[in-house]
Amino acid sequence: MAEGLSVYIETYGCQMNEYDTDLVKSILVESGQRLSESEHDARVILLNTCAIRENAHSKIYARLQQLKALKAKSSHQITVGILGCMAQNLRNDLLDTHDEIDFIAGPDTYRELPGLIARSRETSDKGLALRLSRSETYSGVDPIRSGGVNAWVAVMRGCDNMCSFCVVPYTRGRERSRDRKGILAEVESLAEVGFKQVTLLGQNVNSYEFGPFGFAQLVRVVADVPGIERVRFTSPHPKDFPEPLLDVIAGHPNVCNHIHLPLQAGNNRVLELMKRTYTIESFRELVERIRGTIPGVAISTDIIVGFPTETDAEFEDTFREMEEIRFDFAFIFKYSERKGTYAARKLSDDVPPEKKTERIVHLIELQKRITGEINQQYVGETVEVLVEETPKKDPGALSGRTETFKNTVFPKENFTIGDLVDVSIERSRGSALFGRAVGYATQGERKVRAG
Ligand code: 5AD
Ligand code: SF4
Repeated sequence: MAEGLSVYIETYGCQMNEYDTDLVKSILVESGQRLSESEHDARVILLNTCAIRENAHSKIYARLQQLKALKAKSSHQITVGILGCMAQNLRNDLLDTHDEIDFIAGPDTYRELPGLIARSRETSDKGLALRLSRSETYSGVDPIRSGGVNAWVAVMRGCDNMCSFCVVPYTRGRERSRDRKGILAEVESLAEVGFKQVTLLGQNVNSYEFGPFGFAQLVRVVADVPGIERVRFTSPHPKDFPEPLLDVIAGHPNVCNHIHLPLQAGNNRVLELMKRTYTIESFRELVERIRGTIPGVAISTDIIVGFPTETDAEFEDTFREMEEIRFDFAFIFKYSERKGTYAARKLSDDVPPEKKTERIVHLIELQKRITGEINQQYVGETVEVLVEETPKKDPGALSGRTETFKNTVFPKENFTIGDLVDVSIERSRGSALFGRAVGYATQGERKVRAG
């Protein structure tokens, strides 16, 4: 086995991929490699890739061109490995078309990386590790995090939902939950080393199940870990939102009152074709229950425009629903056909690109207005902010998030990163709030915003 190689890893895509990169770092360091901050002194370059939309693929193809040039002009042997969802999704196609790639490894095979790296440095064989597992949760691997205030903690992996547009079930395999004890031990050690916030991660956190333990119980025990000042989670599915979770959020001041609840479309025929298994009516009832149980809760969402066969009138339904529901913010995407999915196999990607653009522009405009209006209601309120960083544009300030996930900026004074500060909001601009610190926050009583 090659010892002490310097490894540089780049991460694309979602937070689960960021978390996986930290697992990969741990596996490689345990096997004797060193981590490098730059591709220029690295002997091994790994790209942890995403496959969710075509533009995620395009980024990697562009990056591979650069790495090909780097390899060609380098005087030493550079090994390039492709990890993650695109590796799993494209498999041999990726190897066949890109000879600068030495090996590819899907999300369930990272324990094999030391061997894959060693083999590809010793032979000219292309390495392939693409087995999807029903049980791999990387138990016993301690992620190497780069620090900060928030730590991501994966609680489950994979997805069994099979939404018709989504590649994730194919790239990340079947659902499996991590051992509750392992999660708790990880959170306890995060608190000990000073992380203030944990965000529990899963493709569909509702499906968390470990013996009699469901997601709501898991959140409760995590929230009780001393030193953890904030707990967040992402994402629950609207079809089977665990109702007891609402009481856990309402009853625990340190479980943030923000729920990301992906709607995807506001029309029942489209929702059915998407295989989301809820209706717009049941989604709206859930939103009402959430708002009725958790004072001041923020709800955000994901929307896809231009799903196959979506008509103008059906798009208008989505527009109207967003106007009525009034999400705090929304991630809005143009439909992108993914190989192997039900939609790709059975439906034609027939909404013209100009139409998708027109629709996305409309929804972004609408959401901007709504976000602006909701944020305006914070002016005059005092909100608790967990300080995360110094904004690049303003070294005299600090910024962080409210419980409801609003980015908030205020003059630094004597406060520092990691502090929980009460900030009196003076104005709102775009998606950000601006104010002045009025003191350290004493956690206990949740502050309820107006409106
Ligand atoms: N095209 C466009 N957006 C997609 N998403 C998932 N798959 C696709 C696709 N094929 C969006 C969904 C999901 C978010 C993470 O990405 O809105 O909630
Ligand atoms: Fe994450 Fe999905 Fe992209 Fe995979 S395809 S990296 S799970 S967003």
